[in-house]
Amino acid sequence: MKFAILTGGGDCPGMNAFVRSVTRSAINLREDVEVWGVLDGWAGMISGSYRQLGVLDTAGISRLGGTVLGTLRAPELKEREESRERVVQNFIDAGFDALLICGGNGSLRAALDLDQRLKREEQRARIYFTSASIDNDVANTIGTSIGFYSAIERSMEMMEWIRDTASAHRRVYIVGSMGRNSAYLPVYAGLTTGAEYVIRPDEQVDFDKIVDMIEERDRDTRIIVSEAYPRTLEEITAILSAALEKRKSTHEIRTVDMGYFQRGGMASVTDVLRANWVGHCMVRAAIAKDDSGFYGAFHVGATPNRVTLEEALSPEATHEDIPREIIEMMVALR
Ligand code: F6P
Repeated sequence: MKFAILTGGGDCPGMNAFVRSVTRSAINLREDVEVWGVLDGWAGMISGSYRQLGVLDTAGISRLGGTVLGTLRAPELKEREESRERVVQNFIDAGFDALLICGGNGSLRAALDLDQRLKREEQRARIYFTSASIDNDVANTIGTSIGFYSAIERSMEMMEWIRDTASAHRRVYIVGSMGRNSAYLPVYAGLTTGAEYVIRPDEQVDFDKIVDMIEERDRDTRIIVSEAYPRTLEEITAILSAALEKRKSTHEIRTVDMGYFQRGGMASVTDVLRANWVGHCMVRAAIAKDDSGFYGAFHVGATPNRVTLEEALSPEATHEDIPREIIEMMVALR
């Protein structure tokens, strides 16, 4: 059998643990398996660039950030039919029996497209997918994305560091957070580090209330802003500065963006364990020649939730804002 592994979309910690788990599980569970890494994500599928992987190629990579296979953004896959046809043709020419993917929403759509084309051509090869994204915005009712917990840890560190200066200077820090349209990363980063306020993407913000809070806290205030919130960090600063000035407050405001730093660094224990487990389960499914599917995991050792690729892409599978109970807890902890 010939298996291929692909890491797609924005890189995130835990992708390497997935590559290692898939490679080693496949080679150790079945003697006649070859494992190939697709280079640079979907761009490598379009150009037909692969590298064979052995046990030693994946030594010592579990906790490393990024992805040893690379992942380029490949917008041509969405835009050009010709690129999608290239993918399926390359896949068939390479003689792959299974493609095991970890990636984001764009990768999930590409995976479904490839699966449908393979089935139309009556090919037996199957596609197995799990989510990897710091945004946790891929079928998050079915499982948590690999990389999400690492990004929270990175954000926690940065939020603790900024507290030192905020407190020393009695400053307000407006802190940008990645997460695309999803509220998960900014909210969880705020919860774990006790940020004073988190502005979610669609939130109707009561700026007067925030000014009250700044005045009451006096020493330090850290406000996390979701990347999809329609106002920039500078616009928020201007609104709050004007309101503080009106009250003759002396608090200064500064902005800082956690951005790409949230995506880097060592993988958290949770992400390494989950990537190991879900990758291993996907290999077992591929060996058993199960139908294509999405594998979502919350806990190591618990059978991953398996749904079809179509179901994973349905609106019901994902909430972009977080559940009401968690928002209520966040408010209660302010
Ligand atoms: O999906 C992960 C993510 O980091 C998002 O949070 C962010 O919106 C986007 O990728 C940035 O993409 P790029 O790396 O292409 O600039």
